Amino acid sequence: MDKVSDLEDALPDAGLPSIHVEVIQSICSTVRVAVIKTHVVKLLHRQRVAYGNLTLTEFDDPFLTEHVASVAICDTDLNKTDAAAIDLCSANLLLHVCHLNEDGPASEELDDEDLSAASHWLLPCREFEGLWDSLIFDSEIKNELLQYVSTTLLFSDKKVDSNIISWNRVVLLHGPPGTGKTSLCKALAQKLCIRLSDRYSYGQLIEINSHSLFSKWFSESGKLVMKMFTKIQELIDDPDALVVVLIDEVESLAAARKSVSSGAEPSDAIRVVNALLTQLDQIKRNSNVIILTTSNITGAIDLAFVDRADIKQYIGYPSSAAIFKIYQSCINELMRAGIITPAQQLLDLRALEVMRYVENDATRLSLKLREVAMHSEGLSGRTLRKLPFIAQAVYIQKPTVSMDVFLDALKLTAHRQFQERDDLAKD
Ligand SMILES: Nc1ncnc2c1ncn2[C@@H]1O[C@H](COP(=O)(O)OP(=O)(O)OP(=O)(O)O)[C@@H](O)[C@H]1O
Ligand SMILES: [Mg+2]
Repeated sequence: MDKVSDLEDALPDAGLPSIHVEVIQSICSTVRVAVIKTHVVKLLHRQRVAYGNLTLTEFDDPFLTEHVASVAICDTDLNKTDAAAIDLCSANLLLHVCHLNEDGPASEELDDEDLSAASHWLLPCREFEGLWDSLIFDSEIKNELLQYVSTTLLFSDKKVDSNIISWNRVVLLHGPPGTGKTSLCKALAQKLCIRLSDRYSYGQLIEINSHSLFSKWFSESGKLVMKMFTKIQELIDDPDALVVVLIDEVESLAAARKSVSSGAEPSDAIRVVNALLTQLDQIKRNSNVIILTTSNITGAIDLAFVDRADIKQYIGYPSSAAIFKIYQSCINELMRAGIITPAQQLLDLRALEVMRYVENDATRLSLKLREVAMHSEGLSGRTLRKLPFIAQAVYIQKPTVSMDVFLDALKLTAHRQFQERDDLAKD
C-alpha cells in the first residue's frame, strides 16, 4: 500500500467533491478492510443521495449487519457541501474503516505517590465517539486544524527537507475558559486516527496534566518529565502508531517560571519547564508525532512555548448562530428522552433565513429559540451545555414540559447566568 496516498486522501481534491465516510467495524469482525469497503461502496451507491451528514446503523446487506456497526457520511458541513444534495454515485468516496477501542483512559503513574501525571488512550476509542460533531464553532476552525495536521504528516511522509521548508508539529489553542479547547484536541486526535487509519494502524493520545507536573507533591518533577518522555518515545518508536501528545493548560509553565524569577534560587519548577521544552523539541523530530497544547487566557503563556507553536488558534465564545445549534442539539436530546413533549421538529437557521424570519405556526418555536440564542451571546460552550439542566431543575421541576415553556425557562436561565457573573465580579 502506498502510505502517502492515504495522507493525500485527507486533503481536499480539486476535482470531484470528496466525501469522507467513516466506517466502524464490529468488535468481533476480523474481515479484511478491502472487503468491507466494497460492500460499503455498493451500499452508498444504492443510497444514491445524501443531504448533509448521515449515519447508517441498519443495513439491507447481511454482510454489513454482521461486520459493520455504523457507516457515517461526515463533515459535509466543513467542505460546505451540505448546501445541496450529494450525489453518492459520482462523489469521490473516501472510506475510512476502523475498530473502536472500548477501553477508557489508563493513567500513567510515574511515581510512588498516587498522582497521575498523564492519561493515555488508545485511539480511535468509544469514549470520543461523537465528540467532534458535538463541538460547534463559527469559523473554519475545525477544517483548518484538520488540514494543517494532515499537511504536517504529508510533508514528513514525503520527506520534505525541513531545512528548506520549516514546519513544526505544535498547535496551540488559546481562549477563554470552557470554549472547547481541550475537547477539540481530543476530538481532533480521534478524527486523525480515523482519517489516517490506512496509514497508521492505531493512535495513541497522551494527555499531560501540567498542573500535577508542577504540583508540590512532585518535588522531583524534572526526573518525572524524563521518565514520562522515555515512555512516550517507546510509543513513538512504532512507525504504525500516530502519537498525539496533548499538553493542557500550558499557562502553568509561565506561572512556574514566574515563581522562580521572584525568588533567588532556581527551583524544581524551572527544571521541569526546561526539561519539558527540551523533551518536546526531541520528540518533534519524529514524523508520527503531533503536539497539541491549550491555554486559558486567564494566565499568561510561556513565551518560549508560544515560540514553538506553528498554529496559534484563538477559540472564543460562540456566536448566536453557534449557540442556536448547541441549544438545538440539547433540545433534540430532551425530546429523545421524552422530557420535552410532544417531540416536534425545529427548523435550522438556514430554513428560517429562506422563510425571511416570518412568524407562522411552522416557524414560531424556532424563532423563539433564535431569540434565546441571541440573548445568550457571551456565554461559553461549557455554560450553554449546562443551561438546559439548570432550566429544568430551577424553573420547570416536572418530568415533562412543552417546548414553549422550556424555551421560556431557558431564557430565564441564561439571564440568571449573566446576573450571577455580574454578582461575582462585584465581590
Ligand atoms: N463550541 C462548543 N460547542 C459545543 N460544546 C462546547 C463548545 N465549547 C465547549 N463546549 C462544551 O463545554 C465542555 C467543556 O469544554 P472544554 O473542557 O473542552 O473547554 P476548555 O476550553 O478546555 O476549557 P478550559 O479553558 O477551562 O480548560 C465540553 O465538554 C463541551 O461539551
Ligand atoms: Mg481545557
